[in-house]
Amino acid sequence: MFIVVGLYSLLMLASLVYAQASAAKLTAERCSPCHGTERICDRLGKRTADVWQQTVKRMVSNGAKLTQEEASTVSEYLTIAKPGSKHLCK
Ligand code: HEC
Repeated sequence: MFIVVGLYSLLMLASLVYAQASAAKLTAERCSPCHGTERICDRLGKRTADVWQQTVKRMVSNGAKLTQEEASTVSEYLTIAKPGSKHLCK
């Protein structure tokens, strides 16, 4: 029983880590053509979910290529990402 629970938690954790890594890669890929990611990294941990959503929306109107779904993945990632986040800030 404990083994099953342990394995399950490990899997959940692994998929969370994986989801965050792929969101970070998506952000790095779509958010770096016009300006460096430093501009984004400087602000990690300093904005609420609402403000990030507005920022991403504004970037889409600036010309960033993101579907609505990708835009919410990126906004969610930016809200929880820690300063110096791997994949995005290096
Ligand atoms: C098509 C070009 C382009 C792309 C792609 C782009 N940006 Fe921007 N970004 C701009 C321009 C132009 C400015 C300065 C004007 C402004 O703030 O709207 C800017 C400014 C910023 C700023 C500083 C202003 C602020 O709100 O503090 C942040 C943060 C930012 N971008 C984040 C992002 C993120 C996150 C993405 C990916 C979703 C992204 N950018 C993709 C063009 C782009």
